[in-house]
Amino acid sequence: MSEAKVGDVTERPREQWTGQVGFILAAIGSAVGLGNIWRFPGVAYENGGGAFLIPYLVALITAGIPILFLDYAIGHRFRGSAPAALRRLGGKWLEGLGWFQVMVAFVIGLYYTAVIAWALSYFVFSFDLRWGDDPATFLTADYLRVGEPGLSLEFVPSVLIPLVLVWVVTLVVLGAGVAKGVQRANVIFLPLLVVAFLVLVVRALFLDGAADGLNALFTPDWQALGDPNVWIAAYSQIFFSLSIAFGIMITYASYRKRRANLTTPGLVVAFANSSFEILAGIGVFATLGFFAFQQGIAIDELEGLTGVGLSFITFPAIVSQMPGGPIFGALFFGSLTMAGFTSLLSVLQVVSAGFQEKFGLTARQAAIRVGGVSAILSVLLFSTTTGLLALDVADQWANNIGIVASAVIMTVLVLWVLRKGSELRYHLNAVSTFKVGRLWIALVGGLAPVVLGYMLISRIVTLTVEGYADLPAWYLVLIGWGTILVVVVGAALLTLLRWRADPMRFSAWPPYPPSAAPSSSPPRSTTGGSTGGAS
Ligand code: ALA
Repeated sequence: MSEAKVGDVTERPREQWTGQVGFILAAIGSAVGLGNIWRFPGVAYENGGGAFLIPYLVALITAGIPILFLDYAIGHRFRGSAPAALRRLGGKWLEGLGWFQVMVAFVIGLYYTAVIAWALSYFVFSFDLRWGDDPATFLTADYLRVGEPGLSLEFVPSVLIPLVLVWVVTLVVLGAGVAKGVQRANVIFLPLLVVAFLVLVVRALFLDGAADGLNALFTPDWQALGDPNVWIAAYSQIFFSLSIAFGIMITYASYRKRRANLTTPGLVVAFANSSFEILAGIGVFATLGFFAFQQGIAIDELEGLTGVGLSFITFPAIVSQMPGGPIFGALFFGSLTMAGFTSLLSVLQVVSAGFQEKFGLTARQAAIRVGGVSAILSVLLFSTTTGLLALDVADQWANNIGIVASAVIMTVLVLWVLRKGSELRYHLNAVSTFKVGRLWIALVGGLAPVVLGYMLISRIVTLTVEGYADLPAWYLVLIGWGTILVVVVGAALLTLLRWRADPMRFSAWPPYPPSAAPSSSPPRSTTGGSTGGAS
């Protein structure tokens, strides 16, 4: 592939997945992550059990899949990272939204790495059940050495060492590029994850009390359907879990070949992600059933059924009581590490691609410079005695406000202000086998912004009025609202900086609406002129 000189930088041919399977594996690897294993089971249980599957499926079909397609269409038609693709779609303001998405991914990447580092440590600890008889004290006092809320610079070596290791491996993979790095890592780790997790679930199903656990998870509480918070929980779970609306799927779709089916693989990715989520629910609750059975109590008397408590306190306690516990523990924490790692690659690829394109960097340069700075920040913030609290708060704000705000702004600007719905629908249908109708535009432009807008306002009000986790208000302002401030200011500054190459120079599709071509024929590539270039 040849390189062309553009302005003062050398424009490189766009990287590509080697094929459809490589893309699908990477997209599933991105979707299946910590959100599936440690978040979904507890969220489903707390929000109506079996009845939660209704809002969950409604959220998947009305917002999850439609916005996944929107991300794909933008990334594939405008062939760029979130800032580049959105700039080509709608000008400088929309580039700002792209950088907002990059900054959200950047913040998530900083703490997501830390959770993977804990999972890696616990994978090792599983072999000698290092947490002993009291996993809660082990986690907070011995492993994380949790201090008072604040910003401490007292490093915790047991977290620092695996965290540095996770960063080094991640940056080596990202530096190797899309096909040789990210895709290869997914091709190795996704099948390993599926096998390890299936073994774990099958083992869990044969434990005493497993059936009680499954009953607790799936017994429907129909009353929950009348509670708006249950619906908010469902939409929120789908967004984080499907990796949509924060730049990941725009970036991943931009590496697809020009003639690439978009919607059918999108359905495969969405249903694979949800299947894994339900599988995780089955595995986790069968195991919790065993734990309750051992103690002679009901599941609803157990504590720590989601997030950090579930993975790093409840599960270690169960592993200690189980025959063959070390192997079960290694399978669980190994799965958590692998699922987290393949998602982390996608989160940080958003950041890397944004910087590569605007500042003319290679993947290696971006990994060293941008990744190096990110690694230092992540270590400073999350391997100290205040890391756990900072992580919890940053996650609440980045997820509930950052991602949801990005989705609302994107759907309103792209569909209502710029009126690009028909063009993007045309693009999806021109390249894909599964066609989307006008209903897609109605969902992305109508229902999604209304539901998500309501969700955003309600979350802002709750976090402002009620605070979070009984933490002091000054701390929530500093870390929670501080996270949003960093995202907004960072996005504004990055938008204002000068492009090293012409952002509008890319391998464009024929203009929309198509003049002579019949609507069923696929768009053809144009090269040359201001919109031509290496593809
Ligand atoms: N989709 C990823 C997860 O579920 C980010 O963790």
